[in-house]
Amino acid sequence: MKRIMSSAELTGLLSRYSVGPKYLVEPGPSDEQLRLMVEAALRAPDHGELLPFRFKAVRGEAREKMARLFAEGARRAGKDEAGVQMDYERALQPPLSVAVVAKLDLGHPQVPVHEQWACVGGALANFLNAAHLLGYGGKMLSGAKVRDCGIQAAFCGPGEVLLGWISLGTPTRRPQGPARKPGVETALIDWA
Ligand SMILES: Cc1cc2nc3c(=O)[nH]c(=O)nc-3n(C[C@H](O)[C@H](O)[C@H](O)COP(=O)(O)O)c2cc1C
Repeated sequence: MKRIMSSAELTGLLSRYSVGPKYLVEPGPSDEQLRLMVEAALRAPDHGELLPFRFKAVRGEAREKMARLFAEGARRAGKDEAGVQMDYERALQPPLSVAVVAKLDLGHPQVPVHEQWACVGGALANFLNAAHLLGYGGKMLSGAKVRDCGIQAAFCGPGEVLLGWISLGTPTRRPQGPARKPGVETALIDWA
């Protein structure tokens, strides 16, 4: 028999939208919940099992360290003191930040780089979906910071690429509605 109703899990997935850091408050995900999000990320299709991503959690005293790093980056970018302060505070806004780093094998004989990036994207989506299903809001953000040499050096090992940070916390407002998304017919095309 055909299943015409979405399962409860699918309904959950269909209601995921990003929630920006200014709408995220304590409590953030616990360590155990964060591990579940990473487990979900690890279910992304990964050709060759290369694990081309890493999630670097910014917890405890590291939050203050990241805020100082963002402030230094803002200074290097030529921002005035108000802008520097804003970047410092932004780093401390979400209860939990998780840096997303790509770790690509550029010379792999079987798995081209675009397939590795597809895995990174899948991992990110699974992570955000898991956060949502656990009741947390989240948003992936990059901005000019990811191109700052000092910030890159602090988050990346050799050969790694910094995508940005996932902000996570308890949402203070409902995620924005489905009207923002294009219809299925835009993305689903009959090929003939
Ligand atoms: C790698 C990556 C970096 C992003 N960086 C930013 C950013 O710097 N600023 C921003 O407003 N959205 C950024 N986004 C988009 C948001 O995370 C979000 O996906 C978008 O606002 C659409 O919202 P939705 O997830 O509810 O569909 C980024 C997305 C990805 C995948």
